[in-house]
Amino acid sequence: MPPKPIKILVTGAGGQIGTELVRALRQRHGRDNVTATDVVEPSPQAMAEGPFALLDVTRRADVAAAVESRRIDVVYHLAAILSARGEKNPGLAWEVNINGTFNVLEVAREKGLARVFCPSSIAVFGPETPKENTPQETVLRPKTMYGLTKVAGELLGDYYVQKHGLDVRGCRYPGIISHETLPGGGTTDYAVAIFFEAVKNGRYACFLRPETRLPMMYMPDCLKATLDLMEADFGRLKHHCDFNLASMSFSAEELAAEIRKHIPGLVVAYRPDFRQAIADSWPRTIDDAAAREEWGWKPAFDLASMTADMLRAVSDKKTRGLLP
Ligand code: NAD
Ligand code: SER
Repeated sequence: MPPKPIKILVTGAGGQIGTELVRALRQRHGRDNVTATDVVEPSPQAMAEGPFALLDVTRRADVAAAVESRRIDVVYHLAAILSARGEKNPGLAWEVNINGTFNVLEVAREKGLARVFCPSSIAVFGPETPKENTPQETVLRPKTMYGLTKVAGELLGDYYVQKHGLDVRGCRYPGIISHETLPGGGTTDYAVAIFFEAVKNGRYACFLRPETRLPMMYMPDCLKATLDLMEADFGRLKHHCDFNLASMSFSAEELAAEIRKHIPGLVVAYRPDFRQAIADSWPRTIDDAAAREEWGWKPAFDLASMTADMLRAVSDKKTRGLLP
């Protein structure tokens, strides 16, 4: 008899990461074994790609019903309000990130799920954290609502591992760069927007100062990290929900210079706004030794290869008339 397929549910599946993670999971596990869910309906194209259900993670009974009715084994919990949006609406960030995550973990415990993925972020760090080569074990005193909800999410996940024996895993994603779905209101969003504006108009107004350096990662590495961590041998993991994850770090002006190697006329203006203070509170570079040792993490893309691939993909969208 073939092994029983794993049934997967993804929350926040219509977002920047969810859109591409759902496709990657469907390639591995089969189209109909992965249910995408979100509080908003996706595009008709995304709807046609496989099962979708509307699901608000702040409604625990609805989360439980979705898990029960679809006989779910594994949840990838991506629903969240990110840093910039969270500063504009801290109550919503608390509701979705804290109560939503608690609901998902409680349902996972009650239903005896096999595994849960709850991503964290570099936003768990704050101004008192060492900024260079930020260690795995360090000061977690973020100054944003998003950051503090992510610290709570890490601790909550670890609590369910220790207290209930639930298999919960997560890593601290850096800023994610991608070209399929635009980011949903973070501080690192400039590193996506600059590519689209460079290709469309040859100019970009950046909301961070030129020297602002942050840890970043290209989507293919984000997907690889997520899938590798979720497939790692549980017995090898000393950490669970808080793996530091690194790939590349660059400043806004270094990114602009790299893009100018392909689009020499790119003009960038720097007009810092409220997101500058958020960026200033985050690390510049990350030590991800624990992820490398415990589950073999190794990124593939650097600034040059990510930039070339992003420009190829965004230019292709322009040619096909698909730019947002
Ligand atoms: P996103 O903002 O692009 O997508 C989040 C999705 O959650 C959206 O589709 C939104 O509609 C949905 N959502 C909001 N409230 C909801 C609710 N109540 N119930 C169900 N869904 C709801 O975010 P993303 O970039 O895809 O991030 C996914 C996860 O990765 C989040 O936990 C985020 O904190 C984490 N992360 C992302 C980045 C990044 O750079 N993208 C970096 C670090 C961590
Ligand atoms: N990219 C995210 C943000 O800027 C980091 O978690 O909010």
